[in-house]
Amino acid sequence: MFDTQEFVASCRATLTESVPQLAIKELMLRTVERPAEVEAALGTPAVGGIEPLHHSPELTVLNIIWTPGMSLSPHDHRMWVVIGLYGGQEDNRFYRRTPQGLAAVGGKELRIEDAVVLGEDVIHAVSNPGRTFTGAIHVYGGDFFAAKRSEWDPVTLEERPWDIANTRRVFTDANERYAAERADRPS
Ligand SMILES: [Fe+2]
Repeated sequence: MFDTQEFVASCRATLTESVPQLAIKELMLRTVERPAEVEAALGTPAVGGIEPLHHSPELTVLNIIWTPGMSLSPHDHRMWVVIGLYGGQEDNRFYRRTPQGLAAVGGKELRIEDAVVLGEDVIHAVSNPGRTFTGAIHVYGGDFFAAKRSEWDPVTLEERPWDIANTRRVFTDANERYAAERADRPS
């Protein structure tokens, strides 16, 4: 069975390695190849949001639930992150800075049982294109909440300091929209 404390301890144990994110990716693959066990431990995703499973200066582990149809505008992390999916789909679009602003440079669709490492200079936007909630474990090589970093306006793509309040609002709005859609079209 998946055990959150064991998982966190295993992640923390890699921090003495020179490239912990590679060991964590292997751990993540072994974890999400049993998605039902992760879901049994963390709960069946039913509302979008960010649930911290562990938070320290050198490591943050989040259970992120993406609401169906939601999108998060481009942002960076300035630390590596390992992402693993135990349900649904998470589409990543990647960007790089240019003198003219952000330029799109491809994407990666993550599905259940997938895991990926993103480097510390990656800029990405995330969406859940599916009709079901996506459950994802994100492991960051630092303090996700305290780090100084950037997000880009979803419409103008203007760079601004990242603000957790903006991110939480995106989840709140998506949950309200999803609930309204469900009320309109009961299944
Ligand atoms: Fe991100």
